[in-house]
Amino acid sequence: MVTDTLEYQSGFRNHFATEALPDALPKGQNSPQRCAYGLYAEQLTGSAFTSPRPQNLRSWLYRIRPSVVQGAYQPLDNRRVATAPLAEPAADPNQMRWDPAPLPEAPTDFVDGLLTIAVNGDAGAQSGCGVHVYAFNADMTERFFYDADGELLIVPQLGTLRLRTELGELEVANGEIAVIPRGIKFQVRRGDGVDAARGYVCENYGSPLELPGLGPIGANGLANPRDFLSPVAAYEDRQGDITLVAKFSGRFWRTRLDHSPLDVVAWHGNYAPYKYDLANFNTINTVSFDHPDPSIFTVLTSASDTPGMANLDFVIFPPRWMVAENTFRPPWFHRNLMSEFMGLVHGAYDAKAEGFVPGGASLHNCMSPHGPDAETFDKAAAAELTPQYLGNTLAFMFESRYVYHPTGTALDADFRQRDYVDVWSTLRSHFDPTQP
Ligand SMILES: [Fe+2]
Repeated sequence: MVTDTLEYQSGFRNHFATEALPDALPKGQNSPQRCAYGLYAEQLTGSAFTSPRPQNLRSWLYRIRPSVVQGAYQPLDNRRVATAPLAEPAADPNQMRWDPAPLPEAPTDFVDGLLTIAVNGDAGAQSGCGVHVYAFNADMTERFFYDADGELLIVPQLGTLRLRTELGELEVANGEIAVIPRGIKFQVRRGDGVDAARGYVCENYGSPLELPGLGPIGANGLANPRDFLSPVAAYEDRQGDITLVAKFSGRFWRTRLDHSPLDVVAWHGNYAPYKYDLANFNTINTVSFDHPDPSIFTVLTSASDTPGMANLDFVIFPPRWMVAENTFRPPWFHRNLMSEFMGLVHGAYDAKAEGFVPGGASLHNCMSPHGPDAETFDKAAAAELTPQYLGNTLAFMFESRYVYHPTGTALDADFRQRDYVDVWSTLRSHFDPTQP
């Protein structure tokens, strides 16, 4: 790369313009028919050409070689990663929970370290998502990857990631998230001093994630656009025996390049990777009584074709003050139409006394009951309602209108907690018709 210092541009899907060499971008109508520095122009679209302007996504890349300079694709075996719909759908109303996926012992990179937990919808129909966890201990050096099936929302849990993308580099730590749009080529390395890395990936097959509308909240709040950071242009002009891995239509493919695909010298447009520090989320909650629905914690949302019914909501449960009066404070017992996959980035989650640990996961599908375990209920029901700061916590949810189908690998995994349903078994009746 031309620069080792990470620089970012701020704003959510702004129309950025960035160049690693001066005047690499063409200027207005005076553009010559050849690009500056002998670069090739290539457009990358993330929407149909005719999408309405607010949803229209495209960037122009000015690169050393166009992407068509590549060999033929060959199938590549990867049985750990699945795509919806599964050949043998296995959705199940049971509540499920997993411990963190084990870290690999043999050298494993990000792509080989992906493991699918559950999928929903239909990737080919651009609906639903795939939920994966990753665990890896080796950098991608001569290997690059892109996903044609969806955009990748990456939630690191252990170890900072260095995401080297066509459009520039992002460093993403625990407590931050990154989104790599569909089709953008990238590789994943470990941040300085990181031995092994682990986290979660939501592969969104549907419409690209966007900021939710704020309604009566007003112009400010939740995730603010200026806190989203996209990389500046950075390139490498490097020959080599390079493999480009593609995920396309549910399968992995590979092709050879004789050069690094990170050869974009300048780009402009609104289709770009971005990152966001979840500590910047402006949390809104009750200051009187009762629970607002957890939709107030929505960071990003992917709309479906039914208004208000998200293809995917990315929701967080961040550090916050609890001040409600006359109110049971942890999440209440509930049964929802929407299906919920949860993970824990750090700390403890307020609805569970134990068993849900950082790097772990839970799945509560459509109408499957869930809520606090017995120990949490007893403690919270007897708690004195003084203001309380819930500091050491960062949980998240991939919530979807579509039922999640766990993969056979996830169902059979040694790290699945087969006795999860027992966390509610000691909740007993307190009913007494003589005590109103
Ligand atoms: Fe829930």
